Amino acid sequence: AQAGQLTITPRQLAQHDKPNDAWIAIRGKVYNVTHYLPFHPGGQGELMRGIGKDATTLFDEVHAWVNYESLLQKCYLGRLVMIDPETD
Ligand code: HEM
Repeated sequence: AQAGQLTITPRQLAQHDKPNDAWIAIRGKVYNVTHYLPFHPGGQGELMRGIGKDATTLFDEVHAWVNYESLLQKCYLGRLVMIDPETD
């Protein structure tokens, strides 16, 4: 599978929870934000709070208006799925 066409389970998402391997899910879309981390205006530590998980609520609490889909276009990996027997 290629980037942008992956189906990613919560278990897989949780495996990418380090600053040098950082995935995040917002509204069902999973992004690899490893290279975005140093540029996050709110700081690396703040963004890390949402890493490896569905950060939709966290994201919306701070800045629901931020256009993450545009900002993270090149970081898009695929959809977060709840059950995927083939890859989970
Ligand atoms: C600020 C982007 C995720 C916490 C910002 C700003 C942008 C941004 C553009 C500047 C907003 C402004 O000045 O109006 C993103 C993107 C995210 C993301 C693209 C998705 C990967 C998160 C997460 C948190 C967070 C998960 C965790 C709580 C913050 C904080 C600020 C901030 C605390 C500073 C707000 C302020 O100064 O008022 N972020 N962010 N962000 N972000 Fe994020």
